[in-house]
Amino acid sequence: MVAFQNDDVVHTTNHTHDCPEDFCKTGISELDLKLGGGIPTGNTVLMVGSSGSGKTTLSMQFLANGAKMGERGVFFTITEPLFKLTKNMENFSFYDKKMIEQGKVNIIDLRIISERLGLDAEKYSVEDASALLDVLKDIADELQVKRLVIDSITALCYRLKTNEMIRDFIFKLGSSLAAMGCTTILTSEVPPSGDGGIQYSKYGIEEFIADGIMYLSDVDRKGDLIRTLQLIKMRGTSHSRSKVALAISSSEGIEITPLLKSKG
Ligand SMILES: Nc1ncnc2c1ncn2[C@@H]1O[C@H](COP(=O)(O)OP(=O)(O)OP(=O)(O)O)[C@@H](O)[C@H]1O
Ligand SMILES: [Mg+2]
Repeated sequence: MVAFQNDDVVHTTNHTHDCPEDFCKTGISELDLKLGGGIPTGNTVLMVGSSGSGKTTLSMQFLANGAKMGERGVFFTITEPLFKLTKNMENFSFYDKKMIEQGKVNIIDLRIISERLGLDAEKYSVEDASALLDVLKDIADELQVKRLVIDSITALCYRLKTNEMIRDFIFKLGSSLAAMGCTTILTSEVPPSGDGGIQYSKYGIEEFIADGIMYLSDVDRKGDLIRTLQLIKMRGTSHSRSKVALAISSSEGIEITPLLKSKG
């Protein structure tokens, strides 16, 4: 495997932010506080977590809150079919069908795009990856989106044959979106923690190319699994690295609260 260092990527956003427009607010107040204002605009963030940890919900809430702040977003789904995704999201109060109808949040099935492009469903060639990248950039450009989600990058990486292709794809996507002032969340599926050390991505490359890592996990409290969130890195901002509790509810969507220490 090729080893990559954090500093072999050109940082376009790695400076101290003191102006609010430099941050893309998630709209989840406690999370924005932890982030020191929000995600630095133009950053590519890897949202890592095992199955059911809240990746899809948090990234959709990020787009819905963005729409309420006047920022258009696009959600590319690969793992979940569109109808299932929208059906699940309709249970949350942050999700408003009108945002979809008005084009403030756009949900696109990436499998349909790749079918239309005539790409191999299993493995992409270098040309296939490049064609897909162009389409993603064109869509982001045409819709003038400020927020973009790919759910999940793991499923997309599975179709890219080599580590170099994965690195190239994420780097080119991230830098062109950053140039458009678009902030990106890539969800990353990993096994539950405790299965032999923390792993932030399946292929071990994605985390080095991303500007930030948001890690969703669980802690066991007397047999109760409590969801947690931790910011592992976020280039361009001074942020908290403490673990906090993450709750999911229909009325609030994702909420962040302090993780109370167990009294034994
Ligand atoms: N309306 C709801 N109210 C409270 N909790 C919910 C609600 N809908 C879903 N959940 C919880 O959220 C979990 C799913 O969250 P989400 O789909 O965002 O996770 P994920 O990390 O994307 O999972 P996956 O890796 O399977 O895609 C469910 O397993 C359930 O526990
Ligand atoms: Mg999901």
